[in-house]
Amino acid sequence: MIILKTKHLIIRTWQEQDLDPMSVINQDPLVCEFLPKIGNRAETENLIRRFMLHYEKYGFTAYAVELNSNGTLIGFVGLLVASFEAHFTPAVEIGWRLGSQYWGKGYATEAAKSVVDFAFTTLKLKEIVSFTIENNMRSRQVMEKIGMHHNPDDDFDHPKLPKKSPLCKHVLYRIKTPMKK
Ligand SMILES: CC(C)(COP(=O)(O)OP(=O)(O)OC[C@H]1O[C@@H](n2cnc3c(N)ncnc32)[C@H](O)[C@@H]1OP(=O)(O)O)[C@@H](O)C(=O)NCCC(=O)NCCS
Repeated sequence: MIILKTKHLIIRTWQEQDLDPMSVINQDPLVCEFLPKIGNRAETENLIRRFMLHYEKYGFTAYAVELNSNGTLIGFVGLLVASFEAHFTPAVEIGWRLGSQYWGKGYATEAAKSVVDFAFTTLKLKEIVSFTIENNMRSRQVMEKIGMHHNPDDDFDHPKLPKKSPLCKHVLYRIKTPMKK
C-alpha cells in the first residue's frame, strides 16, 4: 500500500519482493559502518517481518522506499516505537537506511521530511525523536535538515549495547509538532 509520494520517491508498506534488495543493502559494509551488526538474509527477513507486525499493531512503521522513476527499492525510512527504556521513552523514533549507491542525492531527507509531516498531520504525534552514534554525521545531517534539534543533555548510552562498545554512546534529536496559530 502506498503511504506517501514525494518528488522522486514512493514510501509504501513491504512486499515479498523487497527481501532480496533489502538483504543486499543490509550486507553492504558502508551501510553497516555504524550499525551493531551486518544483517544476513534471514535477519533481513526478520527485520521486514518486524516492520510489518509493527504496522499492524500501531498503524505506522519503517516503510519501504522506492524510486518512482523505475520502482527500485532503495531502503527504508519511517517511524518505530522505541523498543527500550530510556529517559526520553515512551517515544516514536524516525529512522532510515538506504543502499550506499543512493546516498548524497537528498533521498533520505526528502523521504524523512514527508514522514515527519505525515506523523504530525495524519498520525497526530506530538513529538518524534531520532538517535544515532556521535560520529554518524550523514544521519545527523539528515536529522538537522528535517528540523530536528540536538540538546547534549539528552545524549545517552544505548541500553541494548555493551557500555564498552564504541557504538554505545548516542546523540538524541527531537522535533515537536508545530504549534497551531
Ligand atoms: C544516513 C543516510 C540514510 C543518509 O542518506 P542520504 O540519502 O545520503 O542523505 P541525504 O542525501 O538526504 O543527506 C545527507 C547529508 O549528509 C551530508 N554528509 C554526508 N557525509 C557527511 C559527513 N561525513 N559529515 C557531515 N555531513 C555529511 C551530505 O552532504 C548531505 O547533506 P547536504 O544535502 O546538505 O549536502 C545514509 O547515509 C545511510 O543509509 N546510512 C547507513 C545507515 C545508517 O547509518 N542509518 C542511520 C542509523 S541511526
